[in-house]
Amino acid sequence: MEIVESPLAMQGIAREIHGRGKTIAVVPTMGFLHEGHLSLVDRARNEADVVVLTLFVNPIQFGPNEDYAVYPRDRERDAALCEARGVDYLFAPTVDGMYAPDASVKINETSLSTHLCGAVRPGHFSGVCTVVAKLFNITLADVAVFGQKDAQQVAIVRRMVRDLNFPVRIVMAPIVREADGLAMSSRNTRLAPESREVALGLSAALSAAIEAYGRGERDAAAVKAIMADAMSARGLKVDYASAVDYSTMEDVDEIGPGTLLAVAAYCGPVRLIDNRLL
Ligand code: PAJ
Repeated sequence: MEIVESPLAMQGIAREIHGRGKTIAVVPTMGFLHEGHLSLVDRARNEADVVVLTLFVNPIQFGPNEDYAVYPRDRERDAALCEARGVDYLFAPTVDGMYAPDASVKINETSLSTHLCGAVRPGHFSGVCTVVAKLFNITLADVAVFGQKDAQQVAIVRRMVRDLNFPVRIVMAPIVREADGLAMSSRNTRLAPESREVALGLSAALSAAIEAYGRGERDAAAVKAIMADAMSARGLKVDYASAVDYSTMEDVDEIGPGTLLAVAAYCGPVRLIDNRLL
């Protein structure tokens, strides 16, 4: 595995790979890798000849009161995990290497981004779209693999690819969970041991909603109340408990196939998200 820090060098390598007639799959991450990220590497391996994992904690997708400064980082460990999993290139740029001091172009998706996380994290998805577009241009990706863990992010990236004609195929891979149901997240390492139980409230809320759906419940308001109550009961501070149409991210009145059940909550200072797609 080769570690590349310079965007220009990465672009040169990608050109050379394409010159040899080989395809490139990229897995964008912010590092502190876990099995969720690594499952995307496996998927990427099946989708193209060469796998590039990008590791960059992107400052412009964090709000002023968010956790950019305390976001967990361990480049050595990440590099070792990538190497062991068969990543070909680890692209790990610096902030200065990615953003000129007077950078002044951003990509704004203006519809899907107004809901769920976009509604409570202003500017977040603009930061995501901007960095993902840059990563596509730098890695010359043919395919990019994203996790359903961030289902809204996948929908927005797909929209960006469609609307701006990026020659990149987007693949969405399933959520990887701990044995107890907690969706894996780099942020889980920030949970105090006694908060671990509380954090299970997110997946428990979604399971309760799915169970109600199984019993025939179709009323979105009732299902949202079930999810919010389940999270509050565990001691989570609910950010949202939503039932939306996955293609538009707009609230639905009735749940059914294509409905995304999505939850976000604070477990102490740590904001966690989870979802299930019906
Ligand atoms: P990050 O949170 O590091 O996630 C990187 C990728 O891993 C995303 O596609 C995310 O959905 C996926 N992922 C995280 N946890 C997962 C899990 N438990 N199961 C399956 N996939 C999981 O998402 C970002 O970084 C950034 O916004 C990024 C796209 C890199 C842009 O900065």
